[in-house]
Amino acid sequence: MKLALGCDHGGYALMQEIKAYLDTKENIEYKDFGTYSEASCDYPVFAEAAANAVVSGECDLGILICGTGIGISISANKVKGIRAALCSDCFSAEMTRRHNDANMLCMGARVLGPGLALKIVDTFLAAGFDGGRHANRIALISEIESKQV
Ligand code: RB5
Repeated sequence: MKLALGCDHGGYALMQEIKAYLDTKENIEYKDFGTYSEASCDYPVFAEAAANAVVSGECDLGILICGTGIGISISANKVKGIRAALCSDCFSAEMTRRHNDANMLCMGARVLGPGLALKIVDTFLAAGFDGGRHANRIALISEIESKQV
């Protein structure tokens, strides 16, 4: 599995911890779309770059982090085909894969400690889409997108 990673300065430190954790996993690779330091920057830039890698198929799923997780999730969800879920607990991380077929996990580095954040990552990556009635709902989300000009 290949992941697209993106963060702003608020998420930079936590992203380094997530990358170190992912480095211990044999079956996971990632592409880091930045930011690459704690210098102040604009989260939409990194959200868009990582989101484009997911919708193009270059990456299977993505992880995005900013201070709250809110700005970077709003930004990613502007990219057609992205279902970015802001999660602060493991239950939501599991259910958003199972029911929403979320393709990007968003977290707030100023909200979560690193221990919980890594558990959320594990949970998100381990879960899969349930399909069935949920597939129809995902199709309806795509219909909303297709109505936008
Ligand atoms: C940056 O200060 C902060 O606004 C950003 O990381 C994020 O929390 C925005 O939603």
